[in-house]
Amino acid sequence: MITNRTFTMLKPDSVEKGNVGPIIEKITAAGFKIIAMKMVRLSRADAKDFYAIHKDRPFFNDLVEFMVRGPIVVAILEKENAVEDFRALIGATNPAEAAEGTIRKLFATSISENAVHGSDSNENALIEGSYHFSGREVF
Ligand code: CMP
Repeated sequence: MITNRTFTMLKPDSVEKGNVGPIIEKITAAGFKIIAMKMVRLSRADAKDFYAIHKDRPFFNDLVEFMVRGPIVVAILEKENAVEDFRALIGATNPAEAAEGTIRKLFATSISENAVHGSDSNENALIEGSYHFSGREVF
């Protein structure tokens, strides 16, 4: 299994606020190489599918509605120890608990509108990346 890759989504709030450029800047400055990237708009079925693991959580419907609100930017990133390092770079799920200087501390407004997603394991990085990209879109 490839262990040096992670998957990210810059969520609708990041696109709406014009924060895509500044967030990508932080990601590349931290040493991540972008090996796949595109802007897409998820359908409700896509969002439910992608977050199926959370389907029984009380926030599931709000999460789906938020994720379909507008376009998102999806990307696969490469770096040694990518999953762990990227989660450190983005900070805690709730921006109120995120460390200073992290992407969520800088750009997120709430636990729901938290700017970015980062895979939580190597296995999920592969599943999530493959969900969004075909082989010929990954460099
Ligand atoms: P993400 O890392 O993309 O994974 C699941 C998402 O659910 C999470 O970021 C949050 O945006 C969203 N979410 C909304 N409410 C909650 C909550 N109470 N706990 C955890 N995640 C939440």
